[in-house]
Amino acid sequence: MSIEDAKKKAGYKAVDNHIKDKMVLGIGSGSTVVYAVQRLVQRVKEEKLDIICIPTSFQSYQLITNNNLKLGNLDSIEKIHVDIDGADEIDEKLNVIKGGGGCHVQEKIVASNSEELIIIADYRKDSKKLGEKWKKGIPIEVIPLGYIPVMRKIRSLGGIPTLRMAKNKAGPVVSDNANFIVDADFGIIHEPENLNQKLKMIPGVVETGLFINNVEVNIPKSYIGTKDGNVIERTR
Ligand code: A5P
Repeated sequence: MSIEDAKKKAGYKAVDNHIKDKMVLGIGSGSTVVYAVQRLVQRVKEEKLDIICIPTSFQSYQLITNNNLKLGNLDSIEKIHVDIDGADEIDEKLNVIKGGGGCHVQEKIVASNSEELIIIADYRKDSKKLGEKWKKGIPIEVIPLGYIPVMRKIRSLGGIPTLRMAKNKAGPVVSDNANFIVDADFGIIHEPENLNQKLKMIPGVVETGLFINNVEVNIPKSYIGTKDGNVIERTR
């Protein structure tokens, strides 16, 4: 079973178990969500579902519009029923690290306005503690003017910060919100809520990729595609 198959199984199962007619749905970002959207498009066609989709990034906006799904926005919607999104790592309490694709600011805004965030991922993301599997550090969106002082303050908290550099452009990655992204390696994260609070207190930090369950977002369940073709459903 390939990693792509594991992502697909997780995405399909989440859409089958959580999507009903007349829902407002958050559409996450990244490669796993593409499979969830694939299944959503099938179900919308076959069952004639009326679903409004709220994007979490430019990629997600394109996924919605290119598939002729109904696009909504945060201004006109009072309640998002479910948000389905990927993750870079998931711990035993269903706290997650997100932002490997640089979209965590909009992802967190949508997730925190959703009744529930359902996480879909493959087996490489499943950990006891954050930082065990995801070694690239916590993605932190930063105002460009302040990235050097922010990196200094991250070091004083015990982290190792790296400015994320673009692959097909000279210079840094620029987010959907025209900011920079600093990846901060804190090793194994024993107290994610505490660390998240400290990082968010640094002037110049827009948002972190630590999604603290039951505090910032409500993640009741994750679907993890396994190597042997199954999907593990984890609840907190
Ligand atoms: C985007 O910034 C991220 O938060 C993604 O949701 C996360 O990195 C998961 O991406 P994949 O599904 O591509 O692994």
